[in-house]
Amino acid sequence: MYCALMLLTTVIFSVSAFICAEHQVNTTTVKGEATILFCESDLNNETLTLTWTKDNHTLQPSPRIRIQGQLLWLLNTTLSDGGLYVCLSTNSTFSMESRTLLDVKDGLCPYFENIKLILEEDNFTISCNDEVIPVLGQIMEVQWWKDCKSTGKQGIDFNLYNVSMSDEGNYTCKVIFRYEDINYTASYPFQVTVIKKEPVKKPRVLQPRNKTLHVKPGEELKLECTVFIGIGEETKEETNIYWMINDNFIEAYPELKESLIIETRENVSVFGHSTLSISKVLPEFFGVPFQCTVLNPSGGDMGLVWLSQDDNTIHSWLIIVSLLISVTVVGAVLLIVFKIDLILAYRLHCGKNKTPQEERPYNAYVLYLQCKCPGSSSAEDLALRILPKMLEQQHHLKLFIQGRDTETEVGVTNISDVLSQSKVVVLILPGNDGEENLIPLNQGQNRLEESQLAGLFSDITSSGVPLLLVKVGKMLIIL
Ligand SMILES: *[C@@H]1O[C@H](CO)[C@@H](O)[C@H](O)[C@H]1NC(C)=O
Ligand SMILES: *[C@@H]1O[C@H](CO)[C@@H](O)[C@H](O)[C@H]1NC(C)=O
Ligand SMILES: *[C@@H]1O[C@H](CO)[C@@H](O)[C@H](O)[C@H]1NC(C)=O
Ligand SMILES: *[C@@H]1O[C@H](CO)[C@@H](O)[C@H](O)[C@H]1NC(C)=O
Ligand SMILES: *[C@@H]1O[C@H](CO)[C@@H](O)[C@H](O)[C@H]1NC(C)=O
Ligand SMILES: *[C@@H]1O[C@H](CO)[C@@H](O)[C@H](O)[C@H]1NC(C)=O
Ligand SMILES: *[C@@H]1O[C@H](CO)[C@@H](O)[C@H](O)[C@H]1NC(C)=O
Ligand SMILES: *[C@@H]1O[C@H](CO)[C@@H](O)[C@H](O)[C@H]1NC(C)=O
Ligand SMILES: *[C@@H]1O[C@H](CO)[C@@H](O)[C@H](O)[C@H]1NC(C)=O
Ligand SMILES: *[C@@H]1O[C@H](CO)[C@@H](O)[C@H](O)[C@H]1NC(C)=O
Ligand SMILES: *[C@@H]1O[C@H](CO)[C@@H](O)[C@H](O)[C@H]1NC(C)=O
Repeated sequence: MYCALMLLTTVIFSVSAFICAEHQVNTTTVKGEATILFCESDLNNETLTLTWTKDNHTLQPSPRIRIQGQLLWLLNTTLSDGGLYVCLSTNSTFSMESRTLLDVKDGLCPYFENIKLILEEDNFTISCNDEVIPVLGQIMEVQWWKDCKSTGKQGIDFNLYNVSMSDEGNYTCKVIFRYEDINYTASYPFQVTVIKKEPVKKPRVLQPRNKTLHVKPGEELKLECTVFIGIGEETKEETNIYWMINDNFIEAYPELKESLIIETRENVSVFGHSTLSISKVLPEFFGVPFQCTVLNPSGGDMGLVWLSQDDNTIHSWLIIVSLLISVTVVGAVLLIVFKIDLILAYRLHCGKNKTPQEERPYNAYVLYLQCKCPGSSSAEDLALRILPKMLEQQHHLKLFIQGRDTETEVGVTNISDVLSQSKVVVLILPGNDGEENLIPLNQGQNRLEESQLAGLFSDITSSGVPLLLVKVGKMLIIL
């Protein structure tokens, strides 16, 4: 800027040659080798004259010192050659100074900062062409040294393939040239620094890896999937995140919809959250994998979700059952022997564990077999007489007794309404062994079709309401 102003001033006032010190370099060379200095000049070179001075003394060309154009050769550098070299370039209007502070050292390899940054696993070529070392005469040989030891490699270009950390070091190219029948050597240093390549991070499904969900058919469901996409915003452009069901695209099912949220966290790690909304669980969704897939050029990954028919109830059932079996066995024995109700026993032992969330008006839903078969009258007796007396009058429990409390017929179809309001189902079977698979619910409906029976059991099962099966006389507990 200062120089530009000077130049401008010079032009305006037509003052004769003005000097601008524009350029300064520090360099190192080694004793005995040839040293080449370059005169920087921005001036139009048509009428350019150059003068070199060293420590204020004008340099004159000699057999040891050669000047050609903007270059100065010190052919056999000695320690006393160290100093400040100034090149003054002048055309008729302007002058420029180019300064070089030269340090001459003993040794074989010069050093000044000239760093080459190379990415690990890249290929790289270091070139020692005539811009780096311009020579007089003829090049005989170009040698490559590393850490000041010969590598044995020759040639203007030095190739590094698949660069690794072990390639780091101080390289020197040595050009041997023959000028006026004498061999000279000029050296130039390069420092190779290898930049460690960050391992490419492959995309990965973080959640789920392989998960099983227990659901009921017809349910609404959302499957969540979290994936790591990669490092850097650009990774998300080339990444696909999608759900498949058993290797089929979800578009085949109108019940399935997916949505995606991309999130960039610290260190530009990019994550994706994909949600698969299932409006209705179809029967064919069970037992096949839902695959959350992430795919980009670095790789791919998949997480699996399996849907399984809700056997949670069965699990909790088993727990309740094992509890109940002991309680009920005792209770039923007491019922028969001492006429103490089993529901109370159940309530006393298990009711405490119940969460208060259950707002069920009926403590029990009592179903009993009513048929023209032996034992059915005792079942009826237990259901209509003993249980109400024991539980309702003495213990103030509220029962829904099939037959008694059904003004209108409660069929298998709306049994679930009562079930949902009951804490426990007590099914009383007659004491005989015959016709157990026939469970008439009321007089008007003496025999149930097998499908209705199955429906009844599946309703009870899916409602999650514990079932006590009581067989009068023998006492039988089935769950
Ligand atoms: C060159 O060396 C001199 C003296 O040692 C120092 O003051 C200057 O900052 C150096 N210049 C550069 C460009 O390194
Ligand atoms: C000297 O160099 C400057 C800068 O390049 C240029 O503008 C000017 O015309 C030159 N003078 C002559 C006489 O060539
Ligand atoms: C060169 O001369 C200038 C003045 O002309 C002086 O300031 C400087 O110290 C001298 N440098 C050397 C190395 O003699
Ligand atoms: C001027 O430039 C030509 C070619 O660009 C070059 O050969 C010549 O040596 C230069 N002259 C000076 C004095 O720098
Ligand atoms: C450089 O000079 C030294 C003495 O100063 C001499 O021994 C040596 O042979 C010379 N080398 C060349 C290449 O001229
Ligand atoms: C490096 O060079 C080798 C051999 O020429 C070539 O196979 C490889 O693809 C190159 N690697 C890169 C990163 O350019
Ligand atoms: C480069 O080197 C690394 C280990 O240093 C190796 O794993 C890789 O396969 C090499 N690549 C080529 C193209 O040789
Ligand atoms: C290169 O040489 C310089 C100066 O001698 C030294 O400080 C540096 O540690 C060297 N680098 C390597 C990689 O050897
Ligand atoms: C100069 O170098 C060449 C090639 O390296 C060699 O054959 C020749 O003998 C050398 N001459 C002298 C005088 O050292
Ligand atoms: C997923 O888990 C199930 C058991 O939970 C196992 O049988 C199956 O091999 C697992 N699949 C994969 C891909 O890990
Ligand atoms: C983020 O980068 C910083 C430093 O670069 C590092 O200390 C930190 O552990 C990184 N965090 C993660 C999550 O990679």
